[in-house]
Order: sequence, then structure tokens, then C-alpha cells
Amino acid sequence: MDTPRKKYIIANWKMNFTTGEASLYLDKLSKRIQPSRKVQVVLAPSTISLQPLSLQVNRRQFKLAAQNFYWREYGAYTGEVALSQIRGFVDYAIVGHSERRYVFNESEEDIAQKVAAAIRSNITPILCIGETALERKDGETAAAISNQLTSGLHEVSKEDISKVIIAYEPVWAISSNKNAKPAEPIDIIEAERLIRKHIAKLYGKDIAEEISILYGGSVNKDTAAGYLEIDGIDGLLIGSASLIADQFCAILEIAKGVKNERQY
Ligand code: 13P
Repeated sequence: MDTPRKKYIIANWKMNFTTGEASLYLDKLSKRIQPSRKVQVVLAPSTISLQPLSLQVNRRQFKLAAQNFYWREYGAYTGEVALSQIRGFVDYAIVGHSERRYVFNESEEDIAQKVAAAIRSNITPILCIGETALERKDGETAAAISNQLTSGLHEVSKEDISKVIIAYEPVWAISSNKNAKPAEPIDIIEAERLIRKHIAKLYGKDIAEEISILYGGSVNKDTAAGYLEIDGIDGLLIGSASLIADQFCAILEIAKGVKNERQY
């Protein structure tokens, strides 16, 4: 029997909350959110909070994700954290977020190595891709998406590609508090098609149909339904709205209620 595709609602807390605040917030969320087979809720706190939250969290209710890590196994890499040091705390890891690409100049090669390292560690990489405002203005959205997919996935074999989640986060739509314009569903529909088309070129049509694609960029409780109802969007990666319990819980309720036409 066909089963509906699982939706992912992923909270990227970015560089917010002390460990104490994160723990209190997790406690608050855990009292308000019921586990659901339809929606996988993933929380991505700061690296420093991963270990204590992993002891506190009910993994049937929430999974944890790393916001960042370094792909080498150990060694002289001052300030970095290896997957071997966070394995056991997390089930997912965000890779290639635009803030890492553009604020910290993370290279395409590092991103590809991180995707591969996460897979080797049985951690699901959430590969973030998306065009900048300039690329969009210059009509280069399709090229930006294809290039980021090709390079970010170049170490991933056909056997392993189903272990990857793609998050489409147009850089111009991230952080509404910086006056970025929210994306329209039409922007996302086009990008989702481009992504599946390019994955089909790299790995075949069946895999392109199956891979989970999320949307992220200024999502809040008023816009979430519009994005989640898009056929082919399998969830959301949420920044600022995930820091507010009322917003985040409302988005989760919306995700549980959305009619999902796509089947496995
Ligand atoms: P905002 O929801 O704050 O725009 O952030 C989106 C994002 O970058 C999630 O990874």
C-alpha cells in the first residue's frame, strides 16, 4: 500500500540560545508537540548544546541536527568539531547553508566532503542550495542550482543518494527581519522542478522522484501552508520562526494537516 511521504520540519536555531535557554525551550516544545508519524521534527541547536540536549530529548518526538562540522576525522584543525565528536548526538547535519558559504567562505569542495563524511557516519546530510539575489537578477538561478547540486553531490554514489535531503533556500529570501522578500510559491515550484530534473540527470528519474526537497527562507506560520501544499516540497527549514514556540508549534500543526498527494 502506498504511504504518504513524510514531511520534515527542521528548526535551524543558528547562533541563538545559551545551552540553558535551549534546554528550557526544548522542555517547552516537548510539552506542546505530540510525536507524529507524518511529520519528522528536527532541531538544530548550536554545537555546544548538542550533547546536553541529546540527553534531554525524546528521540521519538524530536531528532537533533548539527548546524556544522568539519569533514576530517581528527587532527590539527583549531576550532573545528569532527563528526566522531558529535556522532550519537545527531541524526542529521545541515551542510552548505548559505551563511556558511557566504559569511565563512566555505568552498564547494568542503561542502562535497562534508556531505560524503556525513553519509559515512550514518548521519543524514541536509544539503542547502539556492541562488543569490544577483544570480536571480541575472537569470542564473537554474545554473546556480545545477552547479551547487553537481559539486555538492560529486562524492555521492547512486547507492547513497537516497540518504541525502536537499533544502532549497534562496539566499535572497532568508531572514525576513533583514527585509528580504519572501519567496512566492511559483519561485519554489520552478526551483523544485529544476532540482528534480538535475538529480534525474545525475542519478536517474526514479531517484529524482524519491529524494526529499525542503524549502527554507522566511517561513512563518502565515506562509507555511502555502509552501507545504506545493506538490514536491517535503518540508521546511525554518530559522527565525523556529525560535518562537507559538510560531513553531503552529507550523507543525499546519504540517500535520496538509494534504499530501505524493506517495512513495
Ligand atoms: P529564516 O527562516 O530566518 O529566513 O532562516 C532560514 C534559514 O536560513 C534556515 O536554514
